[in-house]
Amino acid sequence: MRPKTILITGASSGIGRALAFVYARDGISLSLVGRDRERLEDTAAAARARGAEVSIGQLDVRDRDTMAHWIIAEDTRRPFDLVIANAGITTGLAPGDLTENPSAVRTIVGVNLIGVLNTVEPLIAPMCARGAGQIAFVGSIAGLRGLPYAPSYCATKAAVHAYSESLRGRLEARGVRVSLIIPGFVKTPLNDSIDAMKPLEISGTDAAILIQRGLERGRAVIAFPRSLYLLARLARLLPARLMDKVMARFQVNVPETQERIR
Ligand SMILES: NC(=O)c1ccc[n+]([C@@H]2O[C@H](COP(=O)([O-])OP(=O)(O)OC[C@H]3O[C@@H](n4cnc5c(N)ncnc54)[C@H](OP(=O)(O)O)[C@@H]3O)[C@@H](O)[C@H]2O)c1
Repeated sequence: MRPKTILITGASSGIGRALAFVYARDGISLSLVGRDRERLEDTAAAARARGAEVSIGQLDVRDRDTMAHWIIAEDTRRPFDLVIANAGITTGLAPGDLTENPSAVRTIVGVNLIGVLNTVEPLIAPMCARGAGQIAFVGSIAGLRGLPYAPSYCATKAAVHAYSESLRGRLEARGVRVSLIIPGFVKTPLNDSIDAMKPLEISGTDAAILIQRGLERGRAVIAFPRSLYLLARLARLLPARLMDKVMARFQVNVPETQERIR
């Protein structure tokens, strides 16, 4: 499917911005969500320069009512073919830390999980009524297994994976496609903040091209790089304590998010 009207959250940076660029061309209408107006405007200007029609929603994905109101207004004006719930943050632990800051944990749940629900829920009924549309979730390879450096990040992504799979089983009979995107390391500001080995890291543009291709083919799961994804799945089959020991050997520092519960 080649979508013409697309909603992307987290379009002011990283993967979301790269997605806006790869989709932008004549005849495409983009609705872009983020909080930083200047960076959102930058993305919008570059997308318009490629011929796309762009509207921006300077919104916090945690704000359910405002999100629903804006998304429904956009969908009424021009029904969405594709929504990509991409906005996300990270938080985690430095070597030696035992637990994450409880406030940071609740914040990441708010953005990475509740924010995703706030993005897709308003569109489920309209898409089903039209018997058309595609919903894409950005998960993570970190959602395939808990990692000792980022407990709440892994938990939010695992939840997104499960939610996406559940929705797929429910909505596809109604003509709505559901895809789960599982990236490995992608060079973005989020990823740059993490101090770790980043095997097979790819650029935001390469990630966006892989995502676009996978979505056009209607893939249920779009995971890349393939080898890292398969390794992570294999790790799930190995004894849990053995994998704990392997994971503990890596030196990883994931800074605590600077976001706070509002
Ligand atoms: N980069 C990787 O290696 C990697 C790997 C696996 C999965 N992912 C996932 O990919 C997604 C995009 O990450 P990225 O690497 O592109 O990060 P990024 O460059 O930091 O971009 C994150 C985007 O999310 C938006 N965002 C964050 N909190 C928001 C909120 N409360 N309301 C609205 N927008 C919000 C940001 O907008 P503002 O700055 O304007 O608030 C920004 O546009 C995330 O879900 C992430 O977990 C990334």
